Amino acid sequence: MKSSHTKLFIPGPVEVSEKTFRAFCKPMVGHRGTSFQDLYASIAPQLQQLLYTKNPVFLSTSSAWGVMEAAIRNLVRPGKKVLCCMCGAFSDKWFDVATSNGLAAEKIQVEWGQPILPEMIEAKLKLGGFDAFTLIHNETSTGTMSPLADIAKVMRSFPETMFIVDSVSSMTGVKIEMDTLGLDVLLAGTQKAFALPPGLTVFAVSARAMERAKSVPNRGYYFDFVEFLKNHEKNMTPSTPSIGHINALQSKLEDIFAEGLDRRFARHMQMAQMTRKWAKDRGFEMFPKAGHESITLSCVANTRKVDVAAWIKRLKDRHQCIIDGGYGKLKGNTFRISHMGDETPETITALLGWLDETSQG
Ligand SMILES: Cc1ncc(COP(=O)(O)O)c(C=O)c1O
Repeated sequence: MKSSHTKLFIPGPVEVSEKTFRAFCKPMVGHRGTSFQDLYASIAPQLQQLLYTKNPVFLSTSSAWGVMEAAIRNLVRPGKKVLCCMCGAFSDKWFDVATSNGLAAEKIQVEWGQPILPEMIEAKLKLGGFDAFTLIHNETSTGTMSPLADIAKVMRSFPETMFIVDSVSSMTGVKIEMDTLGLDVLLAGTQKAFALPPGLTVFAVSARAMERAKSVPNRGYYFDFVEFLKNHEKNMTPSTPSIGHINALQSKLEDIFAEGLDRRFARHMQMAQMTRKWAKDRGFEMFPKAGHESITLSCVANTRKVDVAAWIKRLKDRHQCIIDGGYGKLKGNTFRISHMGDETPETITALLGWLDETSQG
């Protein structure tokens, strides 16, 4: 299996370790029995530690979009609005998801590659009527990280507006202190820095957001936050979960805490710095505005106008691995190198060497 496998240095799904796969493939247990409850209870405190929260941490058998849609459906009351920050493909789409759910939505929109900045937010929220605010911490399509802590300071003045944060491609690679920052929903799919297979989303909801949800009609069934809480209290999920994912998550949490959170965050920063330096030394620029480059992936502007697709093909043919050739309208004009999850300075050094070796036809 390994010999024909193309190793993924794309920003999700990322490479999954053999240990994680072994855990994923453990025999099934009934999801309403004590074995499952023991499994669920065993990881709950570690998930809280990982998200720096006392809030319950829930597990949704869905990709991130399930919970991203759920967050606005659960938290926006009839007649109220959601304010969506848009700075790339995923954050732009969140606005469309809100309107497709019949919610009144407004935008804070910047060019792709620009971050969302705290000063953009206050004037808009002061207009009033916003029950929720959506932010993508790390916009994967552009490799841009918005300054979460500074934005959180602004959000403190708007307690009626629930602060929903997608940390899909930053959770576990970057320290995000949910309670200190005052986040109301924090979510991530597991196929990025968790380095699990896609299909599970980890999310936490603050007490005040849960109270809000109770007052919102038509929250739907599958993603009803109130149902998640009721089941969490019994160490269960509302419906049959992907038990394989939860076994894999237990195994991954072992790895994360064996390494230590601070060391894990430092490793991600080191890999980001190495990759940025490599790109600059080769005459490329970073695509995001300076100072806002992602720590888990590098989105490089193709300032040298190289044939990115041909480069990736050579990389794949000679070294059985791939990077990403640019997302959506950035295809060919950027390329993205993922350095998250189980990658190390050593594996990234090897990748950067292979990129050098294959840079010419
Ligand atoms: C920042 C961000 N948010 C949301 C999503 C959507 O995740 P999914 O397709 O797993 O639902 C992605 C996917 O890459 C992402 O990078």
